[in-house]
Amino acid sequence: MPFPAERMRRLRRTPGLRRLTQETRLTLDALIEPHFVCPGTNIRREVSSMPGCAQLSADLLVEECKRSYDLGIRSIILFGIPAHKDAVGSEGYSTQGVVPRGIAALKESLPDLVVWADVCMCEYTDHGHCGVLDDHEVDNDATLPLLAKEALAYAQAGADGVAPSDMMDGRVAAIRAALDDSGFTHVPIMSYAAKFASAFYGPFREAAESTPRFGDRRGYQMDPANAREAMREIALDIQEGADIVMVKPGLPYLDIIRRARERFDLPIATYNVSGEYAMVKAAAHNGWIDEDRIILEILTAFKRAGADLVLTYFARDAARLLR
Ligand code: PBG
Repeated sequence: MPFPAERMRRLRRTPGLRRLTQETRLTLDALIEPHFVCPGTNIRREVSSMPGCAQLSADLLVEECKRSYDLGIRSIILFGIPAHKDAVGSEGYSTQGVVPRGIAALKESLPDLVVWADVCMCEYTDHGHCGVLDDHEVDNDATLPLLAKEALAYAQAGADGVAPSDMMDGRVAAIRAALDDSGFTHVPIMSYAAKFASAFYGPFREAAESTPRFGDRRGYQMDPANAREAMREIALDIQEGADIVMVKPGLPYLDIIRRARERFDLPIATYNVSGEYAMVKAAAHNGWIDEDRIILEILTAFKRAGADLVLTYFARDAARLLR
């Protein structure tokens, strides 16, 4: 019974009808807010390409997360900016490192905040790659024990979960085994399973001071052209013990989120990365777009595509908009 019997506009007529028939609902419960923690006290260094984001010392991080918590944001993920970098990323797995200190401070003041710790080497190595080098290549198998040690240090500091983002093969299994051997069987792994070698990470590398000194990450992160390969990556991480799998970046990979949703039943996260954030902030700053509507439209798109969780620098904005 097509037109005139069927009229699609009937259910769009009033705000009440539109709300009643809305298919996808965005809530703050689904958001994870990223933060950058640095050594020292009372330090706040704004990230110029990510307006509203800053490197924070642990004391100010706690204050910032309290504000977020009061706005309804209940989960964050931590990245560390170490005091010193070296070839093997020592500060990444030091129990006295910047991230374990940040986790401990957060857990003391905000015990109910869900704290994830990103596990990777690129913030801690002087060459900026996500693992240790053998000549000019990242050595996969030599990197695994270091990632496992890093994850363990974060679990010991009180992290609610660890999130490996390095893209080494076998790292989920290595981390799972290390956690289990030390009694952290209860700590979940959110794996950056389908992580593409993307230009959208540009502003993050300024924030985390993690730009590779030579070459790029295409030897370990995925080719943006490959969707079937993304399904293999996700399947492998699930076999190795991942509890949550992530697709990253978000916006240019909505089709990957959808495919993953149709194929896998565990929670799917996506990362609305720094470049996606910076583009919106820059256009809004110029008065070219309606920022608030754009933010809600973007976050809704992730949920509609099938993501359960969204890591996003827009968490604060969303909290304001969803009130
Ligand atoms: C570390 C890591 C990166 C991001 C998250 N974890 C950068 C990279 O792989 O170069 C990017 C996050 C963002 O752009 O917001 N490996």
